[in-house]
Amino acid sequence: MVSYSYSSSNLLSSFVLCVVLVANAFQWFTSDATSTLMVDGSPNSGRPIPNTFLGAFFEEINHAGAGGLWAELVSNRGFEAGRGSGSPSSIYPWRVIGNESLISVSTDLTSCFERNKMALRMEVFCNGPKSCPPAGVGVSNPGYWGMNIEKGKKYKLVMYVKVKASGPVDLQVSLTGSVHRVNMASIISFSVMTDNNILKWIKLEGILESKATNHNSNLQITTTTRAILWLDQVSLMPLDTYKGHGFRMDLFKMVADLKPKFLRFPGGCFVEGYYLKNGFKWKNTIGAWEQRPGHYGDVWKYWTDDGFGFFEMLQVAEDLGALPIWVFNNGMSIGEEVNMSALSPFIQDALDGIEFAKGSPSSKWGSVRASMGHPEPFDFRFVAVGNENCFPHHEVHYQEKYFKFYDAIKRAYPEIRIISNCDGSKTPLNHPADLIDFHIYPNNSMDMFSKYSVFDKTSRSGPKVFVSEYAVVKDDARNGTLLAALAEAAFLIGLERNSDIVHMVCYAPLFINKNGRYSWIPDAIAFNSHESYGTPSYWVQQLFSESSGAIYLKSTLQTSSNSIVASAIGYRSSQDSKTYLRVKVVNFGSEIEKLRITINGLSSNVQQSRSTKTVLTSSNKMDENSFSQPNKVVPRKSALENASNNMVVSISPYSVTSFDLLVV
Ligand code: AHR
Repeated sequence: MVSYSYSSSNLLSSFVLCVVLVANAFQWFTSDATSTLMVDGSPNSGRPIPNTFLGAFFEEINHAGAGGLWAELVSNRGFEAGRGSGSPSSIYPWRVIGNESLISVSTDLTSCFERNKMALRMEVFCNGPKSCPPAGVGVSNPGYWGMNIEKGKKYKLVMYVKVKASGPVDLQVSLTGSVHRVNMASIISFSVMTDNNILKWIKLEGILESKATNHNSNLQITTTTRAILWLDQVSLMPLDTYKGHGFRMDLFKMVADLKPKFLRFPGGCFVEGYYLKNGFKWKNTIGAWEQRPGHYGDVWKYWTDDGFGFFEMLQVAEDLGALPIWVFNNGMSIGEEVNMSALSPFIQDALDGIEFAKGSPSSKWGSVRASMGHPEPFDFRFVAVGNENCFPHHEVHYQEKYFKFYDAIKRAYPEIRIISNCDGSKTPLNHPADLIDFHIYPNNSMDMFSKYSVFDKTSRSGPKVFVSEYAVVKDDARNGTLLAALAEAAFLIGLERNSDIVHMVCYAPLFINKNGRYSWIPDAIAFNSHESYGTPSYWVQQLFSESSGAIYLKSTLQTSSNSIVASAIGYRSSQDSKTYLRVKVVNFGSEIEKLRITINGLSSNVQQSRSTKTVLTSSNKMDENSFSQPNKVVPRKSALENASNNMVVSISPYSVTSFDLLVV
């Protein structure tokens, strides 16, 4: 929490203050400011903004996890992916190396892993009547549209193999570039035998060290021996992931830079599924990765092996310093729901999930967590009962289910805060809840800009508000425009103003792998195998990252313009531990706005040194960032030469500006 220091003034400082006031008074009469923001900086006038104010929402959408934050490089590592799409023999995106006269590849249900029985069968004909090509025959995997392999880095290979042959079978595992299968790394060679005619699965492991960089590489598994081979659970993980926890470094850092105070996960519609059988079932996503069945997310239309499962999501939240917020499936999906008589297993699942996250290591599910390397309970405080399941015409069904979850969870875990899907922003809820979930996706930016005041009239006696999904979408937003981001900035300023009732907010969706086929735009962070950039909406969030736990200061904006909104907070900087005032101003119009900012009630003056101005704008309001121009629309910081308690500033057209004024 910000603490202001109001030391008693001495004669010299009084004199300096007089000079400053005279100088500022002079400015007042000569300036052509059209608007004035009066900020009350006195210590007692402000109100704390909740510590949890700004967070992030991770959904498995757009390959955010599989092929994204989760650094696993092999796609469809267990050969199960075809199952979800109704084609059990699909090995996509694996490719066969060698023609049909040399090798035949299929799948069968012979895996040693009970919950994911599909394995790859390769029958190698060469090295008999026909000799094998020197490089062998086999299969290759391009990962998620090309693996990013970097010179000098190490990659851990794990795979399970079974062979049927009359003698030793050679296996080469290598990394190849996109062109002509050029070898990029040390090759791992294995020699595998059929033991006394008994077919047995064995686990093979090794480290591949890259000699070159290629962002579009493949993993290749080949042999020159005539044999039948089965492969299953083939994994290749970079060794340099965040803390070795499996999170892709650059993407982790981008989220961490938002300083999220909570992480909502794993969806979104991903939690629900279109059909219930395709929803997120947390128990299938924990324990040894090889044994996870994986599932087909039928809403976002891709297979996930669930390597990035419930445990990993709790872990990433902890690594980010964010409180986890688990959205669980409440027996409702987009297309169907269970009867009340069939709800008990869902309730038990929710209770077990809470025990997994925060139970003692000696409890049933807490012990599973402990066996995964986290004996300490996670700091787990929030659950959301479903996602978007209290839509009009579904309220009654939602609520009767909600009550059952609410009662069971509060009975077992009274301290857990429960989030309802029903909207209590206009009329009070008719059921108990700690927070209500609020989603907003206006089709145009003006609509979002005007939502600045959406919580002004919300009852202060009901549950707190969690704006867990917001974004401008469609034409004004495209892939993420400046215009959309500015409207969102205005909306966030309105949330700050209402942060006595709005306790949490996060943008949606967080990530997009730009190579994905079926995607949701816009998003906060775009990436491919090796690059990433923030959209303007991402950068707007960074401008609010100091708001969590800050002091919201009373301010009054006098203006005839309907294009500007502004707010002021006091915060202690995590960088230099000094106290600053941050005034944020959105100019949503095409004209420069002159704004006088006056700050009263401070015990010491605004210091010019270290005071800065950070502006997010661009030459065209529809500008976006891209891989070729990742920094087209990013905040630009500069010294604020005229920083004082009373200053006139120019606010660029279509911009959001953050004035960070050093106070102590
Ligand atoms: O954020 C994308 C989707 O939008 C989420 O999955 C869903 O909750 C909402 O409809």
